[in-house]
Amino acid sequence: MSCRPWSPRCRAAVVVPLLVVGCVDAGHQSVATVLGGDATRGAQAIGTYGCGSCHMIPGINGATGTAAPPLTSFASRTSVAGEVSNTPPQLVAWIMNPQAIEPGTAMPNLGVRAADARDIAAYLYTLR
Ligand code: HEC
Repeated sequence: MSCRPWSPRCRAAVVVPLLVVGCVDAGHQSVATVLGGDATRGAQAIGTYGCGSCHMIPGINGATGTAAPPLTSFASRTSVAGEVSNTPPQLVAWIMNPQAIEPGTAMPNLGVRAADARDIAAYLYTLR
Protein backbone atom coordinates (compact mmCIF):
# COMPACT_ATOMS: atom_id res chain seq x y z
CA MET A 1 0.00 0.00 0.00
CA SER A 2 1.58 3.27 -1.08
CA CYS A 3 -0.25 5.97 0.82
CA ARG A 4 0.56 8.21 3.75
CA PRO A 5 -0.87 6.88 6.99
CA TRP A 6 -4.22 8.59 7.84
CA SER A 7 -4.59 10.23 4.44
CA PRO A 8 -8.21 9.68 3.33
CA ARG A 9 -7.22 7.24 0.64
CA CYS A 10 -5.18 5.21 3.07
CA ARG A 11 -7.97 5.11 5.63
CA ALA A 12 -10.46 3.90 3.05
CA ALA A 13 -8.19 0.98 2.24
CA VAL A 14 -8.12 -0.01 5.90
CA VAL A 15 -11.69 0.76 6.97
CA VAL A 16 -13.64 -0.83 4.14
CA PRO A 17 -12.44 -4.40 4.71
CA LEU A 18 -13.15 -4.01 8.45
CA LEU A 19 -16.76 -2.96 7.72
CA VAL A 20 -17.27 -5.95 5.44
CA VAL A 21 -16.02 -8.35 8.08
CA GLY A 22 -18.29 -6.67 10.65
CA CYS A 23 -21.37 -7.19 8.49
CA VAL A 24 -20.69 -10.84 7.76
CA ASP A 25 -20.15 -11.42 11.44
CA ALA A 26 -23.41 -9.70 12.43
CA GLY A 27 -25.36 -11.87 10.00
CA HIS A 28 -23.79 -14.94 11.51
CA GLN A 29 -24.83 -14.48 15.12
CA SER A 30 -28.17 -12.88 14.24
CA VAL A 31 -30.64 -14.54 16.58
CA ALA A 32 -28.91 -14.40 19.93
CA THR A 33 -28.06 -10.75 19.28
CA VAL A 34 -31.53 -9.76 18.11
CA LEU A 35 -33.21 -11.32 21.10
CA GLY A 36 -30.79 -10.17 23.74
CA GLY A 37 -30.90 -13.82 24.76
CA ASP A 38 -27.95 -15.85 25.98
CA ALA A 39 -27.70 -19.42 24.71
CA THR A 40 -25.58 -20.62 27.64
CA ARG A 41 -28.11 -19.37 30.18
CA GLY A 42 -30.83 -20.80 27.92
CA ALA A 43 -29.37 -24.28 28.19
CA GLN A 44 -29.52 -23.97 31.99
CA ALA A 45 -33.09 -22.65 31.89
CA ILE A 46 -34.16 -25.58 29.71
CA GLY A 47 -32.93 -27.84 32.49
CA THR A 48 -34.64 -25.79 35.21
CA TYR A 49 -38.04 -25.76 33.50
CA GLY A 50 -37.78 -29.43 32.60
CA CYS A 51 -38.45 -29.03 28.86
CA GLY A 52 -36.45 -32.22 28.32
CA SER A 53 -38.98 -34.36 30.13
CA CYS A 54 -41.14 -34.05 27.01
CA HIS A 55 -38.67 -33.01 24.30
CA MET A 56 -35.48 -34.49 22.92
CA ILE A 57 -33.12 -31.49 22.84
CA PRO A 58 -29.56 -31.92 21.52
CA GLY A 59 -26.84 -30.79 23.90
CA ILE A 60 -29.02 -30.84 27.05
CA ASN A 61 -28.28 -33.53 29.61
CA GLY A 62 -31.25 -35.78 30.18
CA ALA A 63 -33.42 -34.07 27.55
CA THR A 64 -34.63 -37.29 26.00
CA GLY A 65 -38.42 -36.97 26.35
CA THR A 66 -40.60 -38.57 23.72
CA ALA A 67 -44.01 -37.08 24.61
CA ALA A 68 -43.41 -34.11 22.32
CA PRO A 69 -41.66 -33.47 18.99
CA PRO A 70 -37.84 -33.42 19.17
CA LEU A 71 -36.38 -29.92 18.96
CA THR A 72 -33.48 -30.99 16.73
CA SER A 73 -32.36 -28.54 14.02
CA PHE A 74 -34.76 -25.97 15.39
CA ALA A 75 -32.99 -23.07 13.67
CA SER A 76 -33.81 -24.62 10.31
CA ARG A 77 -37.55 -24.99 10.95
CA THR A 78 -40.03 -22.80 9.14
CA SER A 79 -42.77 -22.91 11.77
CA VAL A 80 -43.36 -23.21 15.51
CA ALA A 81 -45.72 -26.12 16.18
CA GLY A 82 -47.05 -25.75 12.64
CA GLU A 83 -48.95 -22.65 13.79
CA VAL A 84 -46.82 -19.54 13.28
CA SER A 85 -43.65 -18.80 11.36
CA ASN A 86 -40.43 -19.48 13.21
CA THR A 87 -39.29 -15.98 14.16
CA PRO A 88 -37.62 -14.99 17.45
CA PRO A 89 -40.66 -13.11 18.86
CA GLN A 90 -43.06 -15.94 17.97
CA LEU A 91 -40.79 -18.60 19.43
CA VAL A 92 -40.48 -16.58 22.65
CA ALA A 93 -44.28 -16.16 22.72
CA TRP A 94 -44.75 -19.91 22.27
CA ILE A 95 -42.34 -20.79 25.07
CA MET A 96 -44.11 -18.39 27.46
CA ASN A 97 -47.67 -19.22 26.51
CA PRO A 98 -48.23 -21.99 23.94
CA GLN A 99 -51.94 -22.08 24.74
CA ALA A 100 -52.31 -18.53 23.41
CA ILE A 101 -50.94 -19.61 20.03
CA GLU A 102 -52.59 -23.02 19.83
CA PRO A 103 -55.50 -23.35 22.25
CA GLY A 104 -55.71 -26.90 23.55
CA THR A 105 -52.13 -27.83 22.65
CA ALA A 106 -50.65 -30.58 24.78
CA MET A 107 -47.76 -28.28 25.73
CA PRO A 108 -48.58 -26.71 29.09
CA ASN A 109 -47.88 -23.13 30.13
CA LEU A 110 -44.85 -23.51 32.35
CA GLY A 111 -44.75 -19.94 33.64
CA VAL A 112 -41.49 -19.20 31.82
CA ARG A 113 -40.25 -15.66 32.55
CA ALA A 114 -39.64 -13.42 29.53
CA ALA A 115 -35.88 -13.22 30.08
CA ASP A 116 -35.67 -16.99 30.41
CA ALA A 117 -37.76 -17.47 27.27
CA ARG A 118 -35.36 -15.24 25.30
CA ASP A 119 -32.38 -17.23 26.59
CA ILE A 120 -34.08 -20.52 25.73
CA ALA A 121 -34.94 -19.28 22.23
CA ALA A 122 -31.31 -18.22 21.75
CA TYR A 123 -30.25 -21.75 22.64
CA LEU A 124 -32.80 -23.39 20.32
CA TYR A 125 -31.49 -21.24 17.47
CA THR A 126 -28.02 -22.68 17.96
CA LEU A 127 -29.49 -26.04 16.86
CA ARG A 128 -28.89 -26.12 13.12
C1 HEC B 1 -45.61 -31.72 29.25
C2 HEC B 1 -44.78 -31.85 28.05
C3 HEC B 1 -44.05 -30.62 27.54
C4 HEC B 1 -43.16 -29.82 28.22
C5 HEC B 1 -42.72 -29.93 29.66
C6 HEC B 1 -42.68 -28.86 27.26
N1 HEC B 1 -43.26 -29.05 26.04
FE1 HEC B 1 -42.84 -28.05 24.33
N2 HEC B 1 -44.25 -29.11 23.34
C7 HEC B 1 -45.00 -30.13 23.89
C8 HEC B 1 -45.92 -30.66 22.88
C9 HEC B 1 -46.92 -31.80 23.08
C10 HEC B 1 -45.67 -29.92 21.71
C11 HEC B 1 -46.37 -30.05 20.35
C12 HEC B 1 -47.43 -28.99 20.36
C13 HEC B 1 -48.30 -28.94 19.16
O1 HEC B 1 -47.81 -29.11 18.03
O2 HEC B 1 -49.48 -28.68 19.37
C14 HEC B 1 -44.62 -28.96 22.04
C15 HEC B 1 -44.09 -28.06 21.13
C16 HEC B 1 -43.00 -27.26 21.37
C17 HEC B 1 -42.33 -26.46 20.40
C18 HEC B 1 -42.69 -26.40 18.92
C19 HEC B 1 -42.07 -27.63 18.28
C20 HEC B 1 -42.24 -27.74 16.80
O3 HEC B 1 -42.07 -28.88 16.30
O4 HEC B 1 -42.49 -26.75 16.11
C21 HEC B 1 -41.30 -25.84 21.03
C22 HEC B 1 -40.29 -24.90 20.41
C23 HEC B 1 -41.35 -26.23 22.40
N3 HEC B 1 -42.38 -27.10 22.59
C24 HEC B 1 -40.46 -25.77 23.36
C25 HEC B 1 -40.54 -26.13 24.71
C26 HEC B 1 -39.72 -25.55 25.72
C27 HEC B 1 -38.63 -24.53 25.47
C28 HEC B 1 -40.08 -26.11 26.91
C29 HEC B 1 -39.58 -25.79 28.29
C30 HEC B 1 -39.73 -24.40 28.70
C31 HEC B 1 -41.15 -27.08 26.61
N4 HEC B 1 -41.39 -27.04 25.27
C32 HEC B 1 -41.76 -27.88 27.54
C33 HEC B 1 -44.92 -30.61 25.19
C34 HEC B 1 -44.11 -30.10 26.18
